[in-house]
Amino acid sequence: MYTAPRGTTDVLPADQPYWRLVRDTAERLAAAYGYLPIETPMFEELGVFERGIGEGTDIVEKEMFLLQSRTEEARRFALRPEATAGLCRAYVERGMSSLPAPVRLYWAGPNFRYERPQAGRLRQFTQVNLEAIGSDDPLLDAEIIGYAWRLYEELGLRNLTVLVNSIGTKEARAPYLEALRTYFRPHLERLSADDQMRYAKNPLRLLDSKDARTRELLDGAPDLQEALPQGSRDHFARLQAYLTAADIPYQIEPRLVRGFDYYTHTVFEIVPPDAGAQGTIGGGGRYDGLIELLGGRPTPAVGFATGVERIILNLKRNAITPPPLPSPQVFIATGTPAAAAPAFALADALRRAGVAVQSAAGGGSLKAQLRHASRSGARFVAILGEDELSAGTVALKDMETNSQVSIPRAEVARRVAG
Ligand code: HAM
Repeated sequence: MYTAPRGTTDVLPADQPYWRLVRDTAERLAAAYGYLPIETPMFEELGVFERGIGEGTDIVEKEMFLLQSRTEEARRFALRPEATAGLCRAYVERGMSSLPAPVRLYWAGPNFRYERPQAGRLRQFTQVNLEAIGSDDPLLDAEIIGYAWRLYEELGLRNLTVLVNSIGTKEARAPYLEALRTYFRPHLERLSADDQMRYAKNPLRLLDSKDARTRELLDGAPDLQEALPQGSRDHFARLQAYLTAADIPYQIEPRLVRGFDYYTHTVFEIVPPDAGAQGTIGGGGRYDGLIELLGGRPTPAVGFATGVERIILNLKRNAITPPPLPSPQVFIATGTPAAAAPAFALADALRRAGVAVQSAAGGGSLKAQLRHASRSGARFVAILGEDELSAGTVALKDMETNSQVSIPRAEVARRVAG
C-alpha cells in the first residue's frame, strides 16, 4: 500500500466544487482588474530563489526541495517555493520591460515547501498570485489589497482583517537593524535558538517573533517606523488614503515584516479571526529591488499571494458551500443487452450535439440502472428497451416532473435542450 507523501493532498471529485469556485472567482476577478494570465516552470535555478527570496530566510535555508538526477547538473535546481521570484526571472528574461508599465500578471499553481505539515500547512500547496511590475505608484499596492479583499468577500469570507505595515527600503533599514542588534545583544542568551539565528542572519524577523520572551523584549526595542525615510512614509500614507477611499478596512501592524528579503515599503497580510502562524490566508507587499537583483533594470513592483487550500479551509469552517459541479443532462439506460450498442451510439450522437451524457455500464437490471440514474443527478433518463429498439425510439423520462414520453432517437437532443 502506497500513501501520498506527507503534506500533500488528493483533491477528490467531492472536493472539486470548492476548488472550482475559488479558481473561477479568482480568475474572473483578475480579468476584471486587468491582470493577464502567465505561467512559469515548476522548478527554477536555485539562484533565482537564493538571490530573490534571500539566503537567510527560512524558505531558502530550510524549506526548499532541491532536485537530484543522475547528472550533477540537476542539483542546481529547486521546486519553486513561491511564484514571485520565478515571475520576475521571466519578466527579465522575456523582455517584458518593453511592455507598457505596469505589467499586471495573474498566476495560479502549486508551490513546494518542506515544512512541518499541519492543518493549513502543506508541502505542496496552491497559490493565486497577482503581481504589478514597473511602477512605484501606491495605487497598485491598494489595487492588489483591494483585489484580495474583494476575492474573499465574493467567496463569502467575512470578518477577515487586513494588516498593513511599511518596512522602508533595504538602505534605510540598515542603520535600524544595527540599532536593533545593539538593543538585543545584552539579552542574546535569553532568546530561543530560532531567534538567536534570526539575530545573526535576519534581525528584522525578530519583530514578528512568536516567542514570548522576545515579544516582551520588543516592547523596549527601537521603533522601525521612526527609522523610515520620508518617501516611505508618504507612500504608506497614500496607500492608506486609497484603501479608505474604497472602504477597504485595514489595521496598521507595526511589527509585520514577513519572511522574504525582497520586500520594500508596503507589506500586508490578511488573517481570519484567531489565526495562528499557519492561519494567514494571504500576504504580499512591494518588492522594488527584486527585478534588479535578478539581472533586470531597477524596476519597482508589488504583489500578493493567497493559498487556495487555506481559503477552502476557511470556507468549510464558515459552512460556506460551493455550487455543485454540473450533472449530466441525460442518463442512458438499457432494458435488454441488444440495446447496448444502439445506446452507445445514441450517447455519442448526443455528446456531439453538445449534450452531457452518462451511460449505464456494467449490465445491471433496469431497476439498478435507474437507481444510478437518480444518483447521477441527470434531469432526463433515456431508456432503450426491447420495444424502443424495434421502433427506433427511446422512452425519455423527466426526473423532475416524473413524466415519460416515447420519441424518435433523433429528437432527444432537441427535447432535452429545450
Ligand atoms: P507567503 O506569505 O509565503 O507569500 O504565501 C502566501 C499565502 O500562501 C499564505 O498566506 C498561505 O495562504 C499560502 N501558503 C504559504 N505557505 C503555505 C503552506 N506551506 N501550506 C499552505 N498554504 C501556504 C508568498 O508566497 C509571496 N510570494 C507573496 C507575494 C507575491 N509577495 C509579492 N508577490
